[in-house]
Amino acid sequence: MSSRLETDHLYKVFGRRQDEAVERLRRGADREELRADGTTAAVIDASFTVDPGQIFVVMGLSGSGKSTLLRMLNGLLEPTAGRVLFDGEDLTALGDRELREVRARKISMVFQHFALFPHRSVLENAGYGLAVQGVPRAEREQRATEALRLCGLAGWEKSWPDELSGGMQQRVGLARALATDADLLLMDESFSALDPLIRRDMQDQLLTLQQTLKKTIVFITHDLNEAMRLGDRIAVMRDGRIVQNGTAEDILVRPADDYVASFIQDVDRSRVLTASAVMDTDVRGDEADCDCVTANPDTPFTELCAMSARLTHPVAVLDARRELVGVVPRRRLVGFLGDEHGEPTACGDPRDEGKVTARA
Ligand SMILES: Nc1ncnc2c1ncn2[C@@H]1O[C@H](COP(=O)(O)OP(=O)(O)O)[C@@H](O)[C@H]1O
Ligand SMILES: [Mg+2]
Repeated sequence: MSSRLETDHLYKVFGRRQDEAVERLRRGADREELRADGTTAAVIDASFTVDPGQIFVVMGLSGSGKSTLLRMLNGLLEPTAGRVLFDGEDLTALGDRELREVRARKISMVFQHFALFPHRSVLENAGYGLAVQGVPRAEREQRATEALRLCGLAGWEKSWPDELSGGMQQRVGLARALATDADLLLMDESFSALDPLIRRDMQDQLLTLQQTLKKTIVFITHDLNEAMRLGDRIAVMRDGRIVQNGTAEDILVRPADDYVASFIQDVDRSRVLTASAVMDTDVRGDEADCDCVTANPDTPFTELCAMSARLTHPVAVLDARRELVGVVPRRRLVGFLGDEHGEPTACGDPRDEGKVTARA
């Protein structure tokens, strides 16, 4: 069973007079004002919910407060104010011993540079979290073997860490987290140190694993494309605050402010958007009356383009009951690719619509 994670007006302040600093932040002060007093507001008023089985991505530039936020989620850092609720239990109210217990059994962390023990085998490394829990050797080896298999490392159990590539070592880190059966996976820039191709590979692997494991995952990254690929929801952090919390499409189509808008300029929209984000929902029922190819709300942008190229009229979008829920005229596709705020703009002559029969 998966778990639900919730934060409730979470603050973390480093430095002097922390409670006073929180009061000032509550009244709207920002990080810069506090910095003048030698106080760092690392996380300011973070409230969000991660549903069971979701990948929740926290994205932001270096220094925006991501790691501090993550460390409060597993109790490694005590919040200055606010609460962390895990399956309804307030982690911030637990004593040290109880907290260690929760951390050992329910929460796993995967860091950017996963420190493997050089003199222990891959199998022992993968089973390390279980050893900490006091799981007997035979069961430990069996569960670690299975976790390594899930991470594509079957056959490497007896190897030493230095016999593995960087990408494979990171997989051992992931296997260690999975072996413990923890519901909550906290991943801090876990793939950021990897080469682009291997990184992409790891993202795919995580998405594939997640289809069956359905963990509750908080994944931190400074890379928007990675966020868009992995996140069921994405929280964008700036200077300690979450400035937007939404789906990839929300963020692309309705950026909360200029900061988020500037962030998304370089994103390959065609890889993120689906029909539901680009369709015109102002439709009449009779427009679906044709035998040609149709889309559904989840049809990817690139497929829409391909469909559009083969049709002489807008692509119809039908829901699961085959009811018409929207249409996508070609100029809308062009508009979503071009304009930085994602608002549909009419590019080209609208009268061209319908005349295109073949495009590359
Ligand atoms: N232990 C600490 N003491 C003082 N300041 C800290 C501490 N940890 C983090 N910070 C500061 O808090 C801010 C957020 O840091 P961090 O959470 O590491 O950001 P990110 O992970 O997004 O790069 C930064 O300004 C950082 O310097
Ligand atoms: Mg960090």
